[in-house]
Amino acid sequence: MPKTVFVLNGPNLNMLGKREPSIYGGKNLAAIADDCKQHGTELGFEVDFRQSNHEGDLVDWIQEAGDKAAGIVINPGAYGHTSIALHDAIRSVAPLPVIEVHLSNIHAREPFRHHTTTSPVVIGVICGFGPLGYALALRALSERT
Ligand code: DQA
Repeated sequence: MPKTVFVLNGPNLNMLGKREPSIYGGKNLAAIADDCKQHGTELGFEVDFRQSNHEGDLVDWIQEAGDKAAGIVINPGAYGHTSIALHDAIRSVAPLPVIEVHLSNIHAREPFRHHTTTSPVVIGVICGFGPLGYALALRALSERT
């Protein structure tokens, strides 16, 4: 049975493709989900790919992953910059491996994007590589599960 990996996406990522394409590129979230599922299969993972604009959904899914998944890849979107609840949720499922992804290079953008509440409680952060970041995160996770 393949191991399940949750790939979780936070607010406004459902707008990819239309949203600020000069920053986030032209690929929509459905296409990123397809790529993740295909890449996951190659690595022996079943990818459960989800998106929500609601912080509590992300908390619920992290907790659910603690029971069901071998690891999490999360693009927390803007909640990564603000959410202590996501930080606590990730800590609550330790030692489940979690990798944080951002499509854009958050360190090259506005100062309020330079810090994430989640980065101290994940294995690592991948940012600036666009949708490839998800594939890199799945590959990194395969070394840790
Ligand atoms: C993002 C970066 C965040 O600063 C922003 O709020 C997002 C997307 C990214 O993938 O680059 O919604 O997480």
